[in-house]
Amino acid sequence: MKITNSDRAPFTISADAHAVLVHDEHELTRSGDKANSLLKGNLKNELKNTKFQIRKRNSFLFYTGLDSPSRIICIAIKKEDPYSVALREAAFTAVRTACSHGLTTLVLAFDSVKESETQAVAEGAWLASYQYLRYKTSKERNSGLTAVTIVTRKLQPDALRIADVNYRAVSLVKDLVNEPPDSLTPSTFAKEAEKIAQKNNLKSKTFLPNELEKMGAFAFLSVGKGSKEQGCMVHLTYEPKKKSKSHIVLVGKGITFDSGGLSLKPEKAMEHMKYDMTGAATALACVRAVAELQLPIKVTALLMATENMPGGGANRPGDVVRSMNGKTIEITNTDAEGRLALADGLTYAQTLKPDYIIDIATLTGAQVVGLGRLIGGVMGNDEGFVQEVANAGKDSGETLWPLPLFEPYREMIKSDIADIRNASGIPEAGTIQAGLFLSEFVEHPRWVHLDIAGPAWQERDSGVYGKAASGFGVRCLLKLITSKAQK
Ligand code: BES
Ligand code: ZN
Ligand code: ZN
Repeated sequence: MKITNSDRAPFTISADAHAVLVHDEHELTRSGDKANSLLKGNLKNELKNTKFQIRKRNSFLFYTGLDSPSRIICIAIKKEDPYSVALREAAFTAVRTACSHGLTTLVLAFDSVKESETQAVAEGAWLASYQYLRYKTSKERNSGLTAVTIVTRKLQPDALRIADVNYRAVSLVKDLVNEPPDSLTPSTFAKEAEKIAQKNNLKSKTFLPNELEKMGAFAFLSVGKGSKEQGCMVHLTYEPKKKSKSHIVLVGKGITFDSGGLSLKPEKAMEHMKYDMTGAATALACVRAVAELQLPIKVTALLMATENMPGGGANRPGDVVRSMNGKTIEITNTDAEGRLALADGLTYAQTLKPDYIIDIATLTGAQVVGLGRLIGGVMGNDEGFVQEVANAGKDSGETLWPLPLFEPYREMIKSDIADIRNASGIPEAGTIQAGLFLSEFVEHPRWVHLDIAGPAWQERDSGVYGKAASGFGVRCLLKLITSKAQK
C-alpha cells in the first residue's frame, strides 16, 4: 500500500472512495461540507437517516450516484485532546472500511492542519494495513487497497516521512514478536539486531555468555540455564554526527519464550509467551528509527535476550545468584525471570553514564490485571521524568499510567538468606513489587520503568493496535526521544 500527500481539492482526485469526518453526529469538517454541497445536502440527510452515532465510533459508506466522489466514507470522530490521537484512529477505521468493501484507492480528506495531525493520519492508515503473513502458504493479503492519498492544504512531506519511520518501527516490533519462538531464539534475535545495526551504521556488540560471566551478570545468565541456548546481551548505539543533546539508554526485556522455568506456567498463561521479548524488540526498533531520522541525540539499546525454560540446568526455587552490582538474589520463583535479566541490564546501563535510563518490559501478570490491554504502567525515581514519559504516551495515543514505587512495600521482597528475593509469594501489588525489585539496581537519578505486559499483546482486534503483537510503546518512546532531542 502506498500513501501519498496531495494539496489538490479532494474531490478532483479520482478514487474509489473519499473519507470525511463527522463530529457530534452531524457536524462535518471543510471537506465534508464540500461533499455535502456537491451532493446538494444529501450527505447530511443521509447522516440523519442512518442516525450516525458518534459514541459507537462507527463509519459508513455512502454511494453518491456521482462519478466523483462515487463513494463517501463517513468516519465519526471525537474532538478529543490531543486531536491527533482521534485522527490516527479515524484513518485506521477509514482504511479498514475501504478494505472491507474491496476498494483499491482511497482519499482521506480529514482537513488536518498541524504536521503532527497529518503524521497521525498517515500512521493510522499504515497501521490498518499491517498483516503477518510469513507462515501463511497463500500470501494473499485480505485487502487490495493499493493507494491512499492524504489531502492537506499545504504539502507536508516531513509528516509523511516521520509517519513512515514510526510505522516501520511498530511493524518491526510486530514482526519480531509475532515470529514463533522456535524461530526467534536469543541467538537469531541477536543476529537480526546485528543486521539492523549494520544497515543503519549503529555501533553494536553482542556479549556472549563467557563475557557476561566475566562481567558478573549472573542474575541475567541464570535465566538461560534451563534452555538449550544461552542468553546474550546486544548493545546497540546510535550517535549523531553533531554533538548530541543527551544520551538515553533503553533496556529491553528479551525473553524469547517464558515457560516459567521450573515454576512452570499453566497452559493458558504460557500460550503467547513468545511476546515476552517485546521490550527488547521495542528498544531495537526505537534505536533504528532514531538513526533513520538522524535525530541529534545519542540512544543506546540493550537487548537482554534469553529464554526461560525448565531444562536440567535451570534455576531452582531456592537458588541464590549474585548480580552484576554485587547484590545477592534468592530465586523464590523461576517465573519472575524478567527482573533477573533486567537487574544486570540496568547495572550495565549505568556504566555508560547516560542522562536517562528507560527499561521496557512485559514484566508482570499483575499489570495485565490492574490496567488491562490498553494501558501500560509507568514507574520511576524522578517524578518529573515519569510525568514526561506519561505525557509522551498521551500525545501518541499510547496510554501510560503512573504507579508508585511505594517504599513500605519494599519489605515484601526482603529475603531471609540473600539480600533480596525475586518473588514474595504475596499476591498484592505485583507490578509495584517488580518495580521496587528493579529499583534495587538503580542508583541513577533519572530512571523510568515501563511495564507493558498487558498492551504489548492484543487478544482481539483492538483499535490501531490490531490483534496479537501491538507494538505498544514504540510511538510513545519515539515521541519522548524526539522531544529530548529538541531540548
Ligand atoms: N512474562 C511474565 C509476565 C507476564 C504475564 C507478561 C502475563 C504478559 C502476560 C513474567 O515473567 C512473570 O511470569 N511474572 C510473574 C511474576 C511472579 C511469579 C512474581 C507474574 O507476574 O505472575
Ligand atoms: Zn516469567
Ligand atoms: Zn517473563
